[in-house]
Amino acid sequence: MTKKTPATPDIEATGLRKGLTSYGDNGFSLFLRKAFIKGAGYSDEALNRPVIGIANTGSAYNPCHGNVTQLIEALKRGIMLAGGLPMDFPTISIHESFAFPTSMYLRNLMSMDTEEMIRAQPMDAVVLIGGCDKTVPAQLMGAASAGIPAIQLITGSMLTGSHRSERVGACTDCRRYWGKYRAEEIDDQEIADVNNQLVASVGTCSVMGTASTMACIAEALGMTVPGGASPPAVTADRMRIAEMTGAQAVEMARSGLTIDKILTADAFENAMRVLLAIGGSTNGIVHLAAIAGRLGLDIDLKVLDRMGKDTPVLLDLKPSGQHYMEDFHKAGGMATLLRQLKPRLKLDALTVTGRTLGEEIERAGPGFHQDVVKTMDNPIYPQGGIAVLEGNLSPGGAIIKQSSADPGLMEHEGRAVVFENAADLANRIDSDDLDVTADDVLVLKNIGPKGAPGMPEAGYIPIPKKLAIKGVKDIVRISDGRMSGTAFGTIVLHVTPESAIGGPLAYVQNGDRIRLSVSKREISLLVSDEEMQRRKEAAPMTPPTADRGYKKLFLDTVTQADQGVDFDFLRGVRPGVPPSA
Ligand code: FES
Ligand code: MG
Repeated sequence: MTKKTPATPDIEATGLRKGLTSYGDNGFSLFLRKAFIKGAGYSDEALNRPVIGIANTGSAYNPCHGNVTQLIEALKRGIMLAGGLPMDFPTISIHESFAFPTSMYLRNLMSMDTEEMIRAQPMDAVVLIGGCDKTVPAQLMGAASAGIPAIQLITGSMLTGSHRSERVGACTDCRRYWGKYRAEEIDDQEIADVNNQLVASVGTCSVMGTASTMACIAEALGMTVPGGASPPAVTADRMRIAEMTGAQAVEMARSGLTIDKILTADAFENAMRVLLAIGGSTNGIVHLAAIAGRLGLDIDLKVLDRMGKDTPVLLDLKPSGQHYMEDFHKAGGMATLLRQLKPRLKLDALTVTGRTLGEEIERAGPGFHQDVVKTMDNPIYPQGGIAVLEGNLSPGGAIIKQSSADPGLMEHEGRAVVFENAADLANRIDSDDLDVTADDVLVLKNIGPKGAPGMPEAGYIPIPKKLAIKGVKDIVRISDGRMSGTAFGTIVLHVTPESAIGGPLAYVQNGDRIRLSVSKREISLLVSDEEMQRRKEAAPMTPPTADRGYKKLFLDTVTQADQGVDFDFLRGVRPGVPPSA
């Protein structure tokens, strides 16, 4: 029997009261709200409980989120079992391969969509369903700015496929097979066959690319339930994680566990440790800088580099190692990794469960024998995956993923072979006339935050065809762009400031000498200051802009890589306004 509830003004509906302003008095506004939601068939009893928003990022254009319908069903079960009311709503969804010009260009738009819809709609807590590379950072950025209790649900990785009995998965193997095809080692039929196997199910890329990196980082930040990073998309474990996430969201709504209590400086330190120890994507550092920036915190690249010296790579996943995400899950997932990394972690950092990371590591138990997560004294790489470089070519810093670079090239001096932009590269890289040897240094300009725009993952410059055919597998490459987390090679990225705003990279010329020393953390252009000054004066740079729309907003306000490529006006807490206002 339904309890009778007065229509107004003493309605108890907790979540629905939030943000009442517009239609005359508050009682009437709530009365209207209730009238409309009742149009969907809700009873007063259903409405009189914590409202849990669910950011639904399902999209036909996003197969990495192809399980969102099932996830929402499991989430709703968890929310209702815990006494909450689930309300799912759509936001932008971004897939790596389907976003033009780049997914990074749209990440900030998704973060604004997420923030504003959390603010606009009445909810006591929000569940963020993310997976594909840019979605999790966009959601954490938006939720950090919105300030209410928030919890991340990861869609989960895809399964691996099998090509002629060889196990394959996106997208390290996509690159490897494409490299073989370019080198004419495999034919048209074989490249078509492997295309059917690389993505064997819905879910995110199965190696330690950006999606898996951000999943692990979200758990390290305390933003998922324990074990939330690793279950593959199509498994029962993933659905149970969703149910648990829903129930936890209700608890967070009741206890008022807002996101600012979880995303603290200690939490970011834990995330950086984990990024290094998993051999994570270089994109992770850009996204962490952006998320931290929303809370008024800075990620110091020098600190990351220092941490790298005593944080070995423990996780044996491609591209730094040999396994896939589903193997990491079977090896116990993040609990196994965090247990090993415990001496380096800030154990008092709070998580969405209301318990600390240290308490969660204890609760996960003693672990078991496995060979995917190595021990601190027998790591797969002795230092962290990412090293931070400085020098006159990159005064604001640059990074290299040393764990997937060729050890023979990490101390190298060579002649610059310069490409002015991505189109120039596409036109000339495979030309027989290209003057290039394996000892040269390929330099690509104008693929930074403003240059391309959106800092595309074009930093993985292909080996010139004439060298690839001779069997050259790696060459030093430098750009102001990013690289997919699934890529590998001796590749210097995120050169800051970028060339499009007149960073030194803009003035590198063919034939200049460049020195890379990963041991000294150095990237230098061996050209005198006077000559650089002369070149600058001869060709002054005008930063790009646009006439209208999102592109104008992007070009006028986007920050450099060290500030996360976020918009300048989105960073920091608004003075005098508590995060939850
Ligand atoms: Fe979506 Fe790789 S393309 S995670
Ligand atoms: Mg990627």
